[in-house]
Amino acid sequence: MIVGSGGREHAIAASVAKSPKVDKIYCAPGNAGIGQIAECVPIGAMEFEKLAQFALENEVGLVIVGMDDPLVGGLVDVLEAKGLRVFGPRKNAAILEGSKAFSKDLMKKYHIPTAAYETFDDAKKALSYLEGAKFPIVLKADGLALGKGVLICNTLEEAKEGVRTIMTDKKFGSAGNRMVIEEFLTGREVSVLSFVDGKTIRIMTSAQDHKRAQDGDQGLNTGGMGTFSPSPFYTKEVDEFCRKYIYQPTVDAMAKEGRPFCGVIFFGLMLTADGPKVLEYNARFGDPEAQVVLPRMKNDLVEVCEACVDGTLDQVDLVFEDNAAVCVVLASDGYPVSYEKGYVIHGLEKFDGADGYYCFHAGTKRTEDGYVTNGGRVLGVTAKGKDLKQARANAYAAAEWVDFGNKYMRHDIGKAIDEA
Ligand code: AMP
Ligand code: GLY
Repeated sequence: MIVGSGGREHAIAASVAKSPKVDKIYCAPGNAGIGQIAECVPIGAMEFEKLAQFALENEVGLVIVGMDDPLVGGLVDVLEAKGLRVFGPRKNAAILEGSKAFSKDLMKKYHIPTAAYETFDDAKKALSYLEGAKFPIVLKADGLALGKGVLICNTLEEAKEGVRTIMTDKKFGSAGNRMVIEEFLTGREVSVLSFVDGKTIRIMTSAQDHKRAQDGDQGLNTGGMGTFSPSPFYTKEVDEFCRKYIYQPTVDAMAKEGRPFCGVIFFGLMLTADGPKVLEYNARFGDPEAQVVLPRMKNDLVEVCEACVDGTLDQVDLVFEDNAAVCVVLASDGYPVSYEKGYVIHGLEKFDGADGYYCFHAGTKRTEDGYVTNGGRVLGVTAKGKDLKQARANAYAAAEWVDFGNKYMRHDIGKAIDEA
């Protein structure tokens, strides 16, 4: 059973479906696309007791939690208490994503490279700290805020306004009861996902996300408008540094703190002139990172997840295809602010039997008229290719196979690879 309803969960379901160990997949609550390969169950990701009851009644052998909210809220603990096998961190480990103050303090304590910072639980103190600060500066709401709780402020005025938005007006709710103010870093961003069993960590292939809504990285931050994998900026040298100073040290730090981490750690890295630094941790697969990383993974996903649950990940070697993948998100025009829904989606059948092409559903719904749009991010169109250039050409060709009333996409996903 997979918990979640986005393109990430569709990509997880598609990988799980390939496993010979699986004869039935449930997804709660799932979406219209996931419904093609799994039985969607109308239980929300935050309905812990109902999820547990359903899993017990249907003899679910493994639960994979895709989303951050239920992880941070303690779904894994609830399911484990009923004797279920669950892939994902417990509440005391998901805090790695759930509290930016926690993760920053952890990095400081264990000397894991990250931006310099201060934590505040009082707006007045934060405002007076800003008076002597260097700009631009980065403000982060402590808790989960749908990826929108980070403000990059160019001036003192903007930063003061930001503190008020987060701490006084509580735009991100209780996530803004505390905040982190940190140094602005420059460089290339890379997303690195990993499997962790509490002690051992295995690194997946790298990826890069495009968070801004418009071409040229302009416009508002979104959940992600597209990804490519691998990142040509993630060199062997960078990898060696991160393994030594970031990956294993993070896993060891969590274990030392009595918070052993089982599941996926997503390292959001900035490759700065002073070396790689951690921008953030997530306690789950990235979305849309999962939509380019999982299609390239040769391992049986279920076997890897079980090794994490059983603490035998040291016996697993991850293997990725020697190729590349690009994912272009097809969104509703106006996302992430306001947009219309309910447009009929044409052309989905072109993906049937198209080897190396995937159409992962995020915001879609099945109606009498067929599939219709039902969210800001509608579909993730992924294509593989022998290299990034080819994968990008393939993904943009496939992005034209589908159409709907207010279809919107970026046209420069993976363009950075031209500079590599
Ligand atoms: P986060 O949710 O912490 O990953 O932040 C969201 C985005 O804000 C990141 O993907 C970066 O693009 C940007 N960001 C976060 N922290 C910093 C920083 N210290 N310096 C520059 N950009 C940052
Ligand atoms: N794509 C970024 C995230 O999943 O948080």
